Amino acid sequence: MARKVQFVETVLRDANQSLIATRLPYAKFEPMLETIDKAGYYAAECWGGATFDVCLRYLNEDPWERLRKIRAKMPNTKLQMLLRGQNVLGYSHYPDDFVKLFVQKAVENGMDIIRIFDALNDVTNMKTAMEATVKAGAIASGTISYTTSPVHTHKKYVQMVKELKEMGAATICIKDMAGIMGPQEAYDMVSAIKDAVDLPIDLHTHSTTGLAFMTYLKAVEAGVDIIDCAISPFSGGTSQPATETMAYALRQLGYQVDLDDKCTKKIADYFKGVRDEFLADGTLMPKSMATDTQCLTYQIPGGMLSNLLSQLKQMNALDKFDEALIETPKVRKDLGYPPLVTPTSQMVGVQAVTNVLQGERYKKVSKEVKAYCRGEYGKTPAPIDPQIQKLILGDEQPLKGRYADTLKPVVEDTRKKLGDLAKTDEDVLSYIAFPNLAEKFLEERKAKEENVATYSIVEC
Ligand code: CO
Repeated sequence: MARKVQFVETVLRDANQSLIATRLPYAKFEPMLETIDKAGYYAAECWGGATFDVCLRYLNEDPWERLRKIRAKMPNTKLQMLLRGQNVLGYSHYPDDFVKLFVQKAVENGMDIIRIFDALNDVTNMKTAMEATVKAGAIASGTISYTTSPVHTHKKYVQMVKELKEMGAATICIKDMAGIMGPQEAYDMVSAIKDAVDLPIDLHTHSTTGLAFMTYLKAVEAGVDIIDCAISPFSGGTSQPATETMAYALRQLGYQVDLDDKCTKKIADYFKGVRDEFLADGTLMPKSMATDTQCLTYQIPGGMLSNLLSQLKQMNALDKFDEALIETPKVRKDLGYPPLVTPTSQMVGVQAVTNVLQGERYKKVSKEVKAYCRGEYGKTPAPIDPQIQKLILGDEQPLKGRYADTLKPVVEDTRKKLGDLAKTDEDVLSYIAFPNLAEKFLEERKAKEENVATYSIVEC
């Protein structure tokens, strides 16, 4: 029998985030939820740090309510979220009580799969979230932040996968956030992991460099079980490869694909209209949908390159771009080859620009890089250059063990602090994750409810 390849649809999360900065309001995709539910996807990715942030910051939506509404419209398809390990949705580490309650509530509100990663691939930063996911009865998807460096060998990745399995991972995801994984690399890496563990493997990449279709194909040949794709109008460029195109090609090659073409056509037709609206108002920039091979030349993710450019532009130092490009991999090496994903990509990029502009390396160092050198982000893939670490930390000693162990529980105190502003644990969690945004949101909600209440008394 033909081997089955399954699909994760990313239009609600990653495609939405990569192309239009997560600006899709619930009302815009609601009409398609029932169709997506019937289409035969393995899962629909619908939640993550940026979704949460943008819901509160720009869309005036309660992210928890969004999740419950999606759940109600999609009873048959697994819902998936992306979780940054001990960072949960944010950029710094949280105490365990928050991580545990967040995972528990995400699952209670309808999440089926929690894809858990760490920017440094330090599994001790993933453990609490992995265990909480298993405890809540959901699927823990242990995730590798894919990067290349002399220390990122298949042997190391396989070791990581084994540790994730120990922690209860039900699936493994290889997450290539920059779209730099090529087809041969995908074939070799998937083969190595398949040989080592008997778990379904999901590959996640981006079309940025144009490699993605080929990368998926070779990954499938090596036995990958699940691929992440976006419905065609929201595919390509910084987003994922198109769902329908991959389905067509894989069927032609004899693989079993359980997607319903009538449903995917309906979803595509609908999202064409949505895409055109975002193109018309300028939220969607055509260049986001184009192929950009610069990252292959520099091995630097696309988002980081544009950040470098805009920083230099702000400083009126665009002539230093080449120097900053050469400095970036050097800083990455000094810092022990972190994968270039949020927040390490920002740290490395800013430090490289600072080094170049100051004309002296590490003369000025951000508080994030200092914290990184103290070990607050976890164990680095290779040791930080001892001389640089000493230069940055002075006499301060780096941390031994896990940073989160030094943090005090936060949930109970926040609950008390918020009083009746927070009606539920979900409100408390939103506040801990995004204090300013959530406070504003909760206050506005309260004001609205009080108005409604007065109004209804008059009505009576
Ligand atoms: Co992605």
